[in-house]
Amino acid sequence: MAIERVGVIGGGLMGSGIAEVCARAGSDVIVHEIDAKAAEAALERIDGSLARAVDRGKIDEKQRTDIEERITVSTVLEQQSDRQLVIEAATENEDLKKQIFSDLDRLAPREAVLASNTSSIPITRLAAATTRPENVVGMHFFNPVPVLALVELVTTVKTSDTTAEIARAYAEKLGKTVIHAKDRAGFVVNMLLIPYILSAIRMYETGVASAVDIDTGMRLGANHPMGPLELTDFVGLDTTKYVADVLFEEFKEPLYASPPLLTRMVEAGLWGRKSGEGFYRYD
Ligand code: 3HC
Repeated sequence: MAIERVGVIGGGLMGSGIAEVCARAGSDVIVHEIDAKAAEAALERIDGSLARAVDRGKIDEKQRTDIEERITVSTVLEQQSDRQLVIEAATENEDLKKQIFSDLDRLAPREAVLASNTSSIPITRLAAATTRPENVVGMHFFNPVPVLALVELVTTVKTSDTTAEIARAYAEKLGKTVIHAKDRAGFVVNMLLIPYILSAIRMYETGVASAVDIDTGMRLGANHPMGPLELTDFVGLDTTKYVADVLFEEFKEPLYASPPLLTRMVEAGLWGRKSGEGFYRYD
């Protein structure tokens, strides 16, 4: 099945990036948002990213216009009813995602593939909210989606080979490299990345080194593009803690336990770049 019509549920940081890369690959994309304000914010995010891509010489003005024309933002879920692939990228809230999958099951064509970009919720539980678990798969993108080249393809015990192949082929069409993971919390990347980030926070909390020195250490000493605390600010402290909690719940291993400092910072609203302050301040 050649995928031409794609739906993206949620136009936040990840959803807008996913919509952008799908439209760049030539698909017609409808992004679903909850209200007009959120819809406008999603379009602004996509416009901003496309403007950056033009500035960096990745695309020209004509391509930018063509890409923008392929993206519609809607607040009416029924508009997803002709989509061949729907990628859910809503807030990391299990009940909300289950409701979305149940609604999509009612609306989307019988053969449509329903994918989730969740970083932590078992795909099996989302699939169980539908009557077509064989069509449900995880497609986990990385932030910033237009720049990072990976998609984790997550299959459950019920995902059909056809569904997995459609999702893989489409991710490759987006120019992404695909790795396959079983449906375990954290998949591959977050299962390794989150304990690393939590270790850096513990190191900072216990005063072994300053935030700047920890980050400089990993940028220059291990050639990472960002140090672990910068990266936590970038991903969001709230998201980091949420994923850590899900990993801890699944495996009950101390290495996934949120350090008290992370918990307190999240409670204080210090969520990183998105709130203007995390381990660093942002203007
Ligand atoms: N469209 C297309 N290309 C773009 C772009 C856009 N909107 N914005 C930037 N780029 C390109 C630039 O042109 C440049 O490409 P080039 O090397 O070919 O010239 C490249 O992306 C890097 O861009 P910048 O020069 O603007 O920025 P930096 O070099 O400072 O890199 C960064 C920024 C890409 C964010 C880099 O610091 C990085 O990779 N950080 C780590 C991010 C990371 O680890 N993300 C994963 C988080 S975990 C996650 O998402 C999972 C979740 O479940 C928690």
